[in-house]
Amino acid sequence: MSEEIFIVESGHKIAGTVKVSGAKNSALKLMAASIMASGQTILHNVPKISDVEVMKQVLAHIGAKVSYQQNDEHTLVIDTSTVDSFETPYELVSKMRASTSILGPLIARFGQAQVAMPGGCNIGARKLDLHFRALEKLGVKTVQELGYINASSPHGLMGAEVVLDFPSVGATENVMTTSVVANGVTTIKNAAREPEIQDIAAFLNEMGANIEGAGTPTITITGVDELHPCEHTTIGDRIEAGTYLCAGALCKGPISVEGINPQYLDKPIKFLQEMGCTITRNSTKINIFRDEKLKAHNISTLPFPGFPTDLQAPFMLLCSVADGDSIITENIFENRLMIAEEFMRLGAHIDIATSKKLQESNVPSANIIDSHQAFVKGNAQLYGVDVRCTDLRGGAALVLAGLVAQGKTKIHDIFHIDRGYENFAQKLTNLGAVIERLSL
Ligand code: UD1
Repeated sequence: MSEEIFIVESGHKIAGTVKVSGAKNSALKLMAASIMASGQTILHNVPKISDVEVMKQVLAHIGAKVSYQQNDEHTLVIDTSTVDSFETPYELVSKMRASTSILGPLIARFGQAQVAMPGGCNIGARKLDLHFRALEKLGVKTVQELGYINASSPHGLMGAEVVLDFPSVGATENVMTTSVVANGVTTIKNAAREPEIQDIAAFLNEMGANIEGAGTPTITITGVDELHPCEHTTIGDRIEAGTYLCAGALCKGPISVEGINPQYLDKPIKFLQEMGCTITRNSTKINIFRDEKLKAHNISTLPFPGFPTDLQAPFMLLCSVADGDSIITENIFENRLMIAEEFMRLGAHIDIATSKKLQESNVPSANIIDSHQAFVKGNAQLYGVDVRCTDLRGGAALVLAGLVAQGKTKIHDIFHIDRGYENFAQKLTNLGAVIERLSL
């Protein structure tokens, strides 16, 4: 099979307006949840990305009919009246871990589910123990055997109090979808608060569910007998928006990012301002430009409303060229600092620290948290060489690096980027970048 790469040429002015697509992490879950009602659901603002194609295959595998609305490649029509299977195979789940978000909807519809175990992934182990413990409270028995999760609810689904040890996005979603049709009231404590959780709750409520508190640490779900299909518009992708804001911070802009609620990005916007960028915003648009030197900034990833792990890679790039030294602490996914090695190939000075190394490097001990830290020495001059995407977000950050790395940067394994960014190269090209997509 031929490999596709991006060749990014640096030195061009990057400015203008870019519109973000619908949120990947919302659209995939909305698609999965559509099977909870029998009939035709219509989803607008669905991004054209390869992960959506995989979720379409998951839905087709269990019997749904999925098509795009005529003349609208961002509107999906999902007919779930023919869904007749509760099994999703390894070939699909292994392509995309988010396929596990079908678990809750399948249990809600059939009282049982058989979903292949997703296995490990580049950015970390990504266990499902919180999902299983929480579902058990609702009366769901999960058994893992021969690579599959077999879930059943022999005595029916019962509302319960579920306390999550960590505000896991995926666990919150699976509990929310399962409990929507459970008997009685479910309370999720220490729930994830991500905007995508709010979008999914809004969708389920439009389908007839009774969910309150999504977006806060306590979500209350009062079970209903049945759901009905609905029409819903996916929220804008805050991570895609944040990536273009980083392009503005890196190349000075001015760039306007449209199609996003700026409140979803409060923390990254604050950090960009503290790093020397000027940002203005209204309810659907964020404008960025920079006319002073980028300043170093320490970053620590946390669940929403903390700084998102999905924007850690582009910020690591900004820190690499900023004035001063930064410490980046990754608290969500253990392997998400791995893109640092590719930045180093381009000329960045990053030390993936063990606590010992940090102690030796004169970093004040109060700043030493654990070993998931990167010590970034700023003011690096980047040079275009061959680099490889290690994951989706890291891959996008490499393309941004190519915008400022002297010469041409060749980026391999760009299928990672296609998973979550619609027309990434084209949108940057529209802003003035020179990016070629080549089949080798
Ligand atoms: C989702 C997003 C991902 C984002 C992440 C955190 C999708 C498709 N992906 O991933 O882009 O970076 O939220 O905002 O929406 N964990 C356990 N046990 C569990 C569940 C999770 O140990 O049962 C751990 C994971 O290994 C990880 C951390 O908790 O280290 C966060 O996971 P979680 O919030 O569940 O993220 P995802 O839903 O996988």
